[in-house]
Amino acid sequence: MTAIGIHDLELATTHHLLDLGVLAERTGVDPDKYRLGLGQDEMSFPAPDEDIVTMGATAALALLDRNGMEGVRTLLFATESGLDHSKAAGVFVHKLLGLPAQVRVAEIKQACYGGTAAIQAAVGIVQRNPRERVLVIASDIARYTLDSPGEPTQGAGAAAMLIAADPALVEIEPASGLFSDDVDDFWRPNDSTTAIVDGRLSISAYLDALTGAWDDLAGHDGPAIGDIDRLVYHQPYTKMARKAQARLGEHLGVDLGDDGLVPGAIYNRRLGNAYTASLYAGVASVLDHESDLVGKRLGLFSYGSGSVSEFLTGVVQPGAASRTDRFTAALDARVPLTIDAYRGLHARELPSAQDVETPRVTEAPFRFAGIQGSARRYERR
Ligand code: HMG
Repeated sequence: MTAIGIHDLELATTHHLLDLGVLAERTGVDPDKYRLGLGQDEMSFPAPDEDIVTMGATAALALLDRNGMEGVRTLLFATESGLDHSKAAGVFVHKLLGLPAQVRVAEIKQACYGGTAAIQAAVGIVQRNPRERVLVIASDIARYTLDSPGEPTQGAGAAAMLIAADPALVEIEPASGLFSDDVDDFWRPNDSTTAIVDGRLSISAYLDALTGAWDDLAGHDGPAIGDIDRLVYHQPYTKMARKAQARLGEHLGVDLGDDGLVPGAIYNRRLGNAYTASLYAGVASVLDHESDLVGKRLGLFSYGSGSVSEFLTGVVQPGAASRTDRFTAALDARVPLTIDAYRGLHARELPSAQDVETPRVTEAPFRFAGIQGSARRYERR
């Protein structure tokens, strides 16, 4: 059977960041609650001329510059920060990247799980025709109400992946474990710019889904825990991965420790929650910071509130050996926000009925130029 998986993977984020020390000063909370209690140092925050499209296109541009467009006939855009009830955000990306008309484009949604759903759909397309490659983009802006417990777990980022036969980075193995449950832990109604969340319930729903998905993986010929070398979890905040690892170890009666989680948290500690992109930022972080993973097996847990989750596994391929940390420079280049500037940007709303031109702030290759005649306008810088 042809090996199929992640051939290349690139991340992008925003122009701004908010240091969680600055947020702690405003909320009057001990900064260690954020740094140690949640495992977060910073959160990415978009400039007025950035959104999920500009981040997604930026990540995908780097990917296509390296790999070309040959065989790309599908673009799947996973997000839960959707911009339109009808038009897929990927259609804007398709134009910005100059992709040919002969490419199908669609948006996939199920909270943070959407990126994994897109990858599995992509694997199916490549299995049918191994000459095709699928561009998967997971891009999100995590936003909670100001002064709410969720506020320090905001963030933003995009992961672009090329799913192909004979992949250079990670072969996705056929076995996977699934777990879905209708639960009101986190959702965002169509008329709301911020998510509604029951924090405690979201943590217990995540952990129940983790053991449920693991059991299903075990029941579908998945590997034993001892045959998995690194575990990477969806990281709404990096402490959640520690909670997950402890719960899985308890469930299986083994001590999994948590040292192995450190490399996979390096990017996420600074990005914040990037919803659909979070798990794949963790994968990039592991591949970019560990040099001896070729031939080793990764266990990936994808959780999307609401909820749908999947435990999948992948074997690291030789191409991963040449990866280096390119993303820390992008994180370092972000411009810090003052607390007042952050709160001002957070409160900003753009009603679609109003024509608006956004200020020129971002230094990314693409910008959101504004709204004209109720339609969003983008440009290449
Ligand atoms: P909270 O109630 O403010 O925090 O909200 P807490 O009081 O539970 O404290 C957090 C941790 O900090 C605790 O550790 C404290 O002990 C510790 P834990 O018990 O968890 O190990 N702490 C300190 N540590 C060091 N020094 C100190 C200190 N003080 C306290 N001084 C909560 C936390 C995560 C609930 C909140 O931020 C929230 O609601 N976040 C949003 C929801 C969320 O991220 N849920 C995660 C699971 S659901 C999921 O992952 C899906 C999601 O990504 C969405 C999607 O799928 O689309 C969210």
